Amino acid sequence: MIEKNCYILGIESSCDDTAAAVINNGVILSNVVATQKIHEAYGGVVPELASRAHQQNIVPVVHQALQQANIDKKQLSAIAFTRGPGLMGSLLVGTSFSKSLAFGLDIPLLDVNHMQAHILAHFIKAEGQKAPNFPFLALTISGGHTQIVRVSSYFDLEVIGQTIDDAVGEAFDKSAKILGLPYPGGPLIDKYAQQGNPKKFIFPKPKVSPLDFSFSGLKTAVLYFIQKNVAENPNFIEENLADICASLQHTIVGYLMDKLKNAVKQTGITQVAIGGGVSANSGIRKALGEAEQKYGWRVHIPKFEFCTDNAAMIAMVGELKYKQKHFADNTVTANARMKL
Ligand code: KG4
Ligand code: ZN
Repeated sequence: MIEKNCYILGIESSCDDTAAAVINNGVILSNVVATQKIHEAYGGVVPELASRAHQQNIVPVVHQALQQANIDKKQLSAIAFTRGPGLMGSLLVGTSFSKSLAFGLDIPLLDVNHMQAHILAHFIKAEGQKAPNFPFLALTISGGHTQIVRVSSYFDLEVIGQTIDDAVGEAFDKSAKILGLPYPGGPLIDKYAQQGNPKKFIFPKPKVSPLDFSFSGLKTAVLYFIQKNVAENPNFIEENLADICASLQHTIVGYLMDKLKNAVKQTGITQVAIGGGVSANSGIRKALGEAEQKYGWRVHIPKFEFCTDNAAMIAMVGELKYKQKHFADNTVTANARMKL
């Protein structure tokens, strides 16, 4: 049993979002995210700039999270932080800040795996959000990850499929860049796709083992396709933008769904929980809705603020670990390649 006044501060700094949140018995009291705009000019995350921005943001973000939760830092029961996986310099900022704060307040420290947090975000108590039952399959799709995980309990997670190269969000963003769209291009591809013909152009679906993903070939295929057509017609992109985006999205969504169907078939589990920024995509949402109707799957998509990188999910895992007394000691270090 957890004490009623258990307040856990979660801190996330694995990539380009500096985030802090406070949880109390599964309910999120504050969820603050400072998204680093600086990377837009470079068309992707620049690690050194990310760690510098984390250093600037972390104190005000934590301050704001405590203020919005209306609690004082002395009321905190523990600090949960993202230990990995992620960018080393970025993780180090959150890790050292959390260690110092926990030490200063003399409260326990909880180290959290970012991928586990994306999955356990489904257990945050929020309106319109129903937690999945065990076992379920989790598909985590974002700019940094693409994984299918079999979740048997909070702490028994097995990766059964993953990308062998780029993440799906990167496939969206890099294709968008080739089309001349600003970073991050995923939401723009989604927007233009809604006015286009998904069957106009055919892009290849890379062949790898049934539950794994590969996206680097798709990016190259898009590049050659655009170069060839622009050589023949310099206005090719402008004249066909909606159809290119719709066809590309159709290919990516079809590929994700093929893999999920393979996972459902292999495990016999029909409950599917989605997480990560790409779960905002209208194409994947529609396809999942159809799968519920057609195959009887139960699909869970968390509120969007818990899908993209955030600290609420870190606080959620922190609370679950706190109940089990799974504390980290003060010698804990960041782990850029941390496994589930
Ligand atoms: O989870 P997230 O905020 O950060 C990490 O990468 O961890 O995910 C960001 C990714 C970006 O690649 C972005 O382009 C993609 O999610 N994204 C989308 C959409 N919204 C965000 N991709 C396709 N369609 C969308 N609607
Ligand atoms: Zn993430």
